[in-house]
Amino acid sequence: MLGQVFKALNIATNVNLLPLNTLALPGRAEFFCRVNSNDELSEALAYARDRGLSVSVLGGGSNVIVGEAVAGLVIQMATRGIDRGPGAAGTQDILWTAAAGENWHQFVLHTLANNSYGLENLSLIPGLVGAAPIQNIGAYGLELSERFTRLEALEISSGKSLTFSKSDCQFGYRDSVFKQSAAGRFVITSVTLSLSEQPNVDVSYPALASALGLKQGQQSAISLRKIIAQQIGPQQVSEAVCRVRRQKLPDPAVQPNAGSFFKNPLVSEQHWQRLRQTYSQLPAYPQPDGGVKLPAAWLIEQAGWKGVSRGACGVHREHSLVLINLGACRGKELLLLAAEIIADIKQRFDVDLVIEPQLIGD
Ligand code: FAD
Ligand code: EPU
Repeated sequence: MLGQVFKALNIATNVNLLPLNTLALPGRAEFFCRVNSNDELSEALAYARDRGLSVSVLGGGSNVIVGEAVAGLVIQMATRGIDRGPGAAGTQDILWTAAAGENWHQFVLHTLANNSYGLENLSLIPGLVGAAPIQNIGAYGLELSERFTRLEALEISSGKSLTFSKSDCQFGYRDSVFKQSAAGRFVITSVTLSLSEQPNVDVSYPALASALGLKQGQQSAISLRKIIAQQIGPQQVSEAVCRVRRQKLPDPAVQPNAGSFFKNPLVSEQHWQRLRQTYSQLPAYPQPDGGVKLPAAWLIEQAGWKGVSRGACGVHREHSLVLINLGACRGKELLLLAAEIIADIKQRFDVDLVIEPQLIGD
């Protein structure tokens, strides 16, 4: 009976995960299956429960450090579907729900093409929709949480379906409940965001403003009305974001990487003032809570790590926050390089760097 139920699942064993992660790290999944529907996902979870297998979830593999042996069942999300519905009464809001397996950037383009605005600053972030809430993806002055309404998920241990509201998700900078108390407990099946029919572009991020031809300093003073008068629309913002991203970050298809390898550290104002006395050029982003966010890239570059390699693992020559696989780098070696950088930054600046990508396997 059980065999019949699970037959449709196509569970494979000893599967090569190297092509499934953008760092191209070698790793093998003990059991693996790609799920095309939520029913298949439920079956896969039941399969794992029946056999006492641990479960790891994979989206586009653009924010993972894969271990060489990944025990248990790796489930890759391939569910598709995008729905549009009305937002709150009396508003121009539109609710968009996308299945976890939808490609994030294609989803952003789809909303823009359908005159729904608000995701343009998050264009070209690699990966799938289901992973977006895990670290509350962010770029160019916007975080997912600002558009988030709810998500649906299945609990791995029970197969039960649950809805998470925005407050349930406990979003923070590159953080959510799914990296904290709920880590490894749920598979996100769909995400619902609130967008608007009314364009409301935000080009305050300096690199974005420059890419749009706005002079430095002008962008922060510019009023929304003026921007619209200048005819900078969401589509142009999306295209500018794509241009900047292509200039700044290596394409994983050409140079395997996972984007920023470390989060930008948050320090107290006093700590920043102390650092400034020695490093007058240190850029800083004041936070609403009084703390200060520092660019990890700057600290790593100042410490002399740019372009440095250890075996086949290296720090990118153009962007010091991006660790790269130069050939046959293994997850363990990449973590050793990261540990060296973390220790050096701590010693030089008394700043704790935190690794952004998530570990899968040992
Ligand atoms: P994966 O790497 O497959 O998974 C990431 C984590 O999410 C893992 O822990 C995995 O188990 C979990 N997960 C995935 N799907 C699900 C699901 N359905 N349910 C439960 N758990 C799940 N991130 C930013 O925030 N901003 C950026 O600007 C940015 N730029 C990047 C640029 C490059 C070149 C690269 C390579 C990465 C960049 N990233 C950025 C990181 C990455 O794109 C995001 O974190 C993205 O959301 C990861 O999606 P994914 O589908 O590839 O997730
Ligand atoms: N910098 C250096 N050396 C470098 C690169 C950058 O000193 O080699 C300095 C720059 O001069 C700038 C600062 O570092 O002053 C910040 O650099 P950048 O604008 O490239 O942004 P970032 O802090 O490196 C963050 C996110 C990115 C996101 C961009 C745009 C984190 C950890 N990273 O990068 O997200 O796309 O801002 O918003 O918050 C990701 O999370 O994977 C990611 C790519």
